Amino acid sequence: GGAAGIALGVGGYALADARSNSAATQGGSGSGRAALTSLGADAVPFHGTHQAGIVEPMQSTLHATAFDLTAGTGRPGLVSLMKRWSAAAGAMAEGRKPPGLTDDQVALDAGPSSLTVTFGFGASVFAKAGLTAQLPSQLAPLPPFPEDRLDRARCDGDLWVQVCADDPLVAYHAMRTLQRLAAGQAAPRWQMTGFSRAPGATPKPMTARNLMGQIDGTNNPKPGSSGFDTTVFVPGNATAAGQPSWMAGGSYAVFRRIRMLLDTWDQQSLDLQQRTVGRRKDNGAPLSGGPGSTETTTVDLDAFNSDGSLAIPGDAHIRVAAAASNQGAAMLRRGYSYHDGYRPDGAPDAGLLFIAFQADPMNGFVPVQRKLARGDALSRFLVHESSGLYAVPGGASAAGYVGQALLE
Ligand code: HEM
Repeated sequence: GGAAGIALGVGGYALADARSNSAATQGGSGSGRAALTSLGADAVPFHGTHQAGIVEPMQSTLHATAFDLTAGTGRPGLVSLMKRWSAAAGAMAEGRKPPGLTDDQVALDAGPSSLTVTFGFGASVFAKAGLTAQLPSQLAPLPPFPEDRLDRARCDGDLWVQVCADDPLVAYHAMRTLQRLAAGQAAPRWQMTGFSRAPGATPKPMTARNLMGQIDGTNNPKPGSSGFDTTVFVPGNATAAGQPSWMAGGSYAVFRRIRMLLDTWDQQSLDLQQRTVGRRKDNGAPLSGGPGSTETTTVDLDAFNSDGSLAIPGDAHIRVAAAASNQGAAMLRRGYSYHDGYRPDGAPDAGLLFIAFQADPMNGFVPVQRKLARGDALSRFLVHESSGLYAVPGGASAAGYVGQALLE
């Protein structure tokens, strides 16, 4: 659940008003219903300086959906959509019934389960809504990268909605509710579903593994550490940072659907797999670490093996992607695994829905991916199939809505 989680007590929207921590922790309530476990009761506030769904620990289920405005939806339509979406997301994040439609009751029995909804604007929405003067230069299209194999129908989009929750029905309900609320004003362009570790599946909370079996997310910038905020978020004084004022507290999301060539990967020796990334597969320790090292042992890119070779090979993913190799470029990665069945050749259609948040893609994803695409060992096992870049504005106040500073 979310680090900022608040327990809501007995769950389901029918009982959401009867909030009580003690009912949740003591395992009973006057209603005779069993209390939610903390998984169901955990809630992440929707309102705040930043949108939810960026700094919180990853939930187990993701729905990422891009929408295009329907013909004739201009700025007033977009304003009303963002108001309805924000009201619904705020209610659902507290385990309440979303206003504005007849609820389908898919999440009726569940607590909020750490639901987060994160909204982003694609570059294409600005002209449609008459807002070209507000378009951030940071939202310039991502450059083409060597070996990209992009399916244009599953790239970009006017609006981007990231829904994450620790219960799959709660996540589906939120995604479906937002799509219903958009009817007439915006229609889905593409939708993708991802998954990560379920809470409680490991003895202690751990960095999750991806479908190549690697522990993935170790060297992410840590919330609260020095430099975290400037790496991930546009500062409150956005114009001083060369950003439009409406992006204060915001971030830019890069989305990439990256298919893994798992049949090829699984044929490689463990040694080659570890040198491809630069870390051990079992515990995630860097190959520079030596005996007793763990996942959190500091990476030493200058360490050598006794035979004089680099401990972390020259083309290892963590060397090529490191901030130290990219003039300090860094980002917060928050990607989910996906599996969409098998391809005609029998290979899994599976990989990573890579999501990275950063204050400026030109100091984050773009230089790092340029370098990775040119010669990172891991890239030989990957195919980038879709791509998007979205401006994720700051969070809404309780009385406001996401995107208000842009739209009013
Ligand atoms: C680190 C896997 C794509 C940027 C890592 C690590 C793994 C990994 C296992 C080491 C653990 C960690 O620190 O998280 C993958 C896989 C990918 C992928 C399986 C594709 C399917 C990308 C892309 C980028 C990227 C597209 C950015 C353009 C990074 C960065 C680090 C990292 C910045 C941390 C490096 C460090 O400072 O140690 N990745 N990655 N990765 N990856 Fe990736």
